Amino acid sequence: MGLLKRIFGICETKPPSDAGCWRYSGGKIEIQLERAAELSNRGGAIRLEGRELPERVLILNGDDGNFHAFKNKCTHMGRRIDPVDGHGAVQCCSLSKSTFNYTGEMISGPAKGPLTSFKVESEDGKLIILLE
Ligand code: FES
Repeated sequence: MGLLKRIFGICETKPPSDAGCWRYSGGKIEIQLERAAELSNRGGAIRLEGRELPERVLILNGDDGNFHAFKNKCTHMGRRIDPVDGHGAVQCCSLSKSTFNYTGEMISGPAKGPLTSFKVESEDGKLIILLE
């Protein structure tokens, strides 16, 4: 990630190219995996925001072969988070680069605490992320 992006806190992870691949209802995000191309390979990620979501959410296909979901808000100053390919970690897009493992524990940086992670279930080609 370039220095300018870090200065302005611009993350690398984009919203899904198929905006219709997900919906939110009753505290759950449901993603149709066949429509979420970004999640088809390890290291791939999407960020979900808006549509009455109570939190910004980062979802990634992790290096460990599992899907992970996090509150997309660094506990330092609230910037967004990106995956760190090949390191089993996610990192704040700011200059300070707070870094967390897949359970949300802080590895390094000035963050004030762990990153909130959400339970992810998979069924019938869908990912279900439980926000509550
Ligand atoms: S906002 Fe994330 S390290 Fe500062």
